Amino acid sequence: MTAITDPADLFTEDWRVHGSIYTSDAIFAAEQQRVFHGPWLYVAHESELRSPGDYKTTHAGTQPVIVSRGADDGELRVMLNRCRHRGAAVCQSERGSANFFRCPYHGWTYRNSGELRGITYDDAYPELERQRLGLTRLPRVGVAHGFVFASFAEEGPSLEEFLGNALPYLEIISRQGPDGIRLSAGSHRIEYDANWKLQVENTIDNYHFGFVHRSFLEVLADRIGEAPPIMQQILFNETYRTVDLGNGHSVHEFGDPRTGNNGGQLGDLPFNLIVFPNLCFVGAQLRHVLPKSATKTEVRLYPMLHEGASDEHNAAILRTHEGFYGAAGMGGPDDVEVAFERVADGMRATEDDWLVMSRGAHRERPGENGTLVGHSADEVPQRAFYRGWRNAMTLGGAL
Ligand code: FES
Ligand code: FE
Repeated sequence: MTAITDPADLFTEDWRVHGSIYTSDAIFAAEQQRVFHGPWLYVAHESELRSPGDYKTTHAGTQPVIVSRGADDGELRVMLNRCRHRGAAVCQSERGSANFFRCPYHGWTYRNSGELRGITYDDAYPELERQRLGLTRLPRVGVAHGFVFASFAEEGPSLEEFLGNALPYLEIISRQGPDGIRLSAGSHRIEYDANWKLQVENTIDNYHFGFVHRSFLEVLADRIGEAPPIMQQILFNETYRTVDLGNGHSVHEFGDPRTGNNGGQLGDLPFNLIVFPNLCFVGAQLRHVLPKSATKTEVRLYPMLHEGASDEHNAAILRTHEGFYGAAGMGGPDDVEVAFERVADGMRATEDDWLVMSRGAHRERPGENGTLVGHSADEVPQRAFYRGWRNAMTLGGAL
């Protein structure tokens, strides 16, 4: 039960992983510095910020941020949602359009591009360098196929380099509707009392489906009069594959990714995708995983509607989304209970804290462009994630 102080020691050669990666406050704090302050982080989709003045609030790691499109210049900026006076969040709304943000505490105002515009009753200040008191901006913002990313690091790999092999998949996602996709339906949120990485890992964990989602499969079997062969397909289908795309990203392919369609299934892509560290795509859904503490997580689920498609088509995407992931859905709540909260319960037993993440490790084989390929229900995505995580975590030395 001694705490591990070197991140490299959290993993063994044969892919056992130390449970403290999900529970330790020290590891969580180090993650915020190394995993969330180095690589690019997803913050928004362009469809949420179409017009000058549009903004949304979200989080970059644990940091509350405003993503805005400049009212004057149309430029995308990502800024900390924190007043430079005494720290209040200057914007409370999830989305909107505004030329200015006014702090609710003492009324300082900022342009939507971040510059400090007005200080209330400012004659009482001896001297203030107003031009240095704008909202703090993240130094880099980039857009890939409509997905907006930002980085706390002044320098580092370009967004394209970072996304690497994940980039073609993002392009396919961006082309789903006749005129692309839009996130105009907003999001619904779940919160659970366990680590954020559990949600990312569970996004491509085909091994769990027949167990956690057994009741869903039973309902399906009732409806169609026979047991659906889903588990067989998932576990043994040789044409399905999981791929370590590098840089922590991974994908599960269960159709032809080039066509971007999954045999006509509504709003479904023929793959699930994880973009390191906390952006996931499942079916018609974009999933943004927001860490709150070592043992608390918020997840925002955004149905991706099809731009240029009929209202009926998009309404059907929403109903499908709600049917599985909604609060009374047939799937999502089971993941929260079992894959997150029961794991958290089990993790309280720390006497022998090692986990096994080696499923299919012996049959991982090299694919194109430096990728590693495995079977559908292998733990390839988990190992892909932890290769990226370990790289980020070990760069900064001991915990
Ligand atoms: Fe914002 Fe005082 S904290 S004006
Ligand atoms: Fe699940």
